[in-house]
Amino acid sequence: MTRRLTLIDRLICEADTVMRTLTSRGNTAGRPSPAQGHREGDLDEIRRRHVAGLMRVNHTGEVCAQALYQGQALTAKLPTVREEMQEAAAEEVDHLVWCEERLRELNSRPSLLNPAWYGLSFALGALAGAIGDAISLGFVAATEERVCAHLRDHLRQLPEDDRRSRLILQQMLEDEERHGENALAAGGSQFPPPVKNAMTALSRVMTQISYYI
Ligand SMILES: [Fe+2]
Ligand SMILES: [Fe+2]
Repeated sequence: MTRRLTLIDRLICEADTVMRTLTSRGNTAGRPSPAQGHREGDLDEIRRRHVAGLMRVNHTGEVCAQALYQGQALTAKLPTVREEMQEAAAEEVDHLVWCEERLRELNSRPSLLNPAWYGLSFALGALAGAIGDAISLGFVAATEERVCAHLRDHLRQLPEDDRRSRLILQQMLEDEERHGENALAAGGSQFPPPVKNAMTALSRVMTQISYYI
């Protein structure tokens, strides 16, 4: 028998997701990492550090995606929108876990500022959800557009030999493109260029900081 979740139930679930996202514990990917079964590239120290910086940026992006979807799901009005976002959020968990594993393989760590980015993204997501479903879905589409641009740029920057990172980013790009398309198809509004530009500027700040810290 299924029962409706009360607000308290939902808040407990949300708190659990926050902890799992920020502490790197208890998250399991639904799909194996695309890197699985592929050999480690021959990376010298400089290239290893560069790839770790890129993967840290991508990992932070996935932390933000978790927060964004969670914030939106909390305030989304239509249950269908909430379900759709939770489905995409499950794929984002895969991305989060794959990036985290790759960071570890590169002897590196996630960004120390992830809790701050999480809070900001959660607030933006909840605000978009509270305004309305069209805005909320439009926000997903515009965000995914930015994420895809980053991923394409990172794929260009990856050393030729680093097949493990490349395969992860390629699968993520495929998923994010689909998330964006689905959000628009579900009725998301196209954001005007000034809003998209502001989002690009904010994501640039986030990526530049996360590369180092
Ligand atoms: Fe993602
Ligand atoms: Fe996505």
